[in-house]
Amino acid sequence: MSIESQQDFTGLQSVSEAVGLTLKKMREFARPGMSTLELDEYGGTILGGFGARPAPRITYGFPGYTCISLNTEVAHGIPSAGAILKEGDLVNIDVSAEMGGYYSDNGGSFVLGSDLRNLNPLISCSRRALQKALSNIRGGVRISEIGAIIENEARRSGFRVIRNLAGHGIGRSLHEQPHDLLCYPEKSDRRRFRKNTVVAIETFISTRAIFVHEKGDGWTLVTGDGSFVAQHEHTILITEDKPVVLTSANGI
Ligand code: CO
Ligand code: CO
Repeated sequence: MSIESQQDFTGLQSVSEAVGLTLKKMREFARPGMSTLELDEYGGTILGGFGARPAPRITYGFPGYTCISLNTEVAHGIPSAGAILKEGDLVNIDVSAEMGGYYSDNGGSFVLGSDLRNLNPLISCSRRALQKALSNIRGGVRISEIGAIIENEARRSGFRVIRNLAGHGIGRSLHEQPHDLLCYPEKSDRRRFRKNTVVAIETFISTRAIFVHEKGDGWTLVTGDGSFVAQHEHTILITEDKPVVLTSANGI
């Protein structure tokens, strides 16, 4: 969406703070032995306390308040009583919500407890790629240029990017124009970021695979070859200078 008023700005700030704090608290609450259903219900209670409604559920009928993806699951993992968190797991929590007609979206990957599989370099690379992307986005910058920054950061660390997952416009709905903010430069993409618009920028940094596919449960996206993927996502307002990071409360 394009911000047209102070009300638009404060509405987006409020819902962004709700999803940001929910993500932060869920990350802090996660413990080995806990099911992803329990973690999701905790998140749902926090969102409800803000008066925010879970966006994947109200938009697509997703069976959970938040998306929690474990290990080789990349995105849209369904919270489940049978999915028990273990020490060393790669965990991705993605929280998006609606409040007062405004939407915000954020997410982040982390290792639970000890890094038994040496996944922290992957996570650091994803966080670095997001920060570099954000520090280069302003009105007039080509969308493909930001994809190049993310892919270059992945390559420098010996990683790849997922080609069929992307960031997106957001604000009046969960996913809106501009769609397909890819993690690599699509040369034919002539579009540019526009001042006063709101977008969700997400990284998808992979140890090997470059595509994900749906696991067969209708939702969960996985790598086919056991690769791990780290994602970090902020909702931002684009300006003529540095963007306003609306979801900064998540602390990713
Ligand atoms: Co998103
Ligand atoms: Co998200």
